[in-house]
Amino acid sequence: MKQPGGTDGQKRRAGERAAAAVPDGAVVGLGTGSTAAAAIRALGDRVASGLAVRAVPTSYQSRRLAREASIPLVTLEDATPDLAIDGADQVAGFDLVKGGGAAHAREKLVATAADRYLVVIDETKLAGVLSIAVPIEVLPDAVPVVRSRLGALGGEPTLRAAERKDGPVVTDNGNLVLDCAFGEIPDPEALADGIAAIPGVVEHGLFVSMTDALYVGTDSGVDVRDAPK
Ligand code: A5P
Repeated sequence: MKQPGGTDGQKRRAGERAAAAVPDGAVVGLGTGSTAAAAIRALGDRVASGLAVRAVPTSYQSRRLAREASIPLVTLEDATPDLAIDGADQVAGFDLVKGGGAAHAREKLVATAADRYLVVIDETKLAGVLSIAVPIEVLPDAVPVVRSRLGALGGEPTLRAAERKDGPVVTDNGNLVLDCAFGEIPDPEALADGIAAIPGVVEHGLFVSMTDALYVGTDSGVDVRDAPK
């Protein structure tokens, strides 16, 4: 689920700094959400000034924003991203919970394909330990089975309901989302392995040991943190 989050200024600063790190000629993965949107707009400004890039979107939203910004689009069949810029819902160390916008399946695909993964957040996303509900994209027919298996892992899953539509959220891939509360997650890698092993799970929102750099927007600037190699 979407977190309340920080200010537009914090998000914009983080997005602009990450967009400034994109080299000429790069292929860029474009994440989803309000902070990634700030990066896409800033990248669009650089394209208007002559930067040559091609981009791989991760959702309907990021594709549309990129088109509005006149950023040329390609697919993973055309090119491998040199880097991806993406938001997150909660960050502990360099591990993430993602999927508040239900785009985490394609986000993880593009992030995994990219040579570098840059994560843009406002400072309210930082936590000592991951603890918010983990979004899990599920094949529609598999919901009862996945619910029960998540319960056996100690989770409390809730089917994500749509706003301004009756019934559940349907992802860009035609699937449903369970938001699964586990309380504090001291071992994200073990939980990620447990969720991924459940038949019918398309993708979960735990992004473990994937981040190369964090761009944390604050009221006064951007704190750039490089992950240890
Ligand atoms: C999309 O499904 C998410 O993974 C987003 O990247 C995440 O929700 C961050 O969005 P905001 O930048 O809007 O908080």
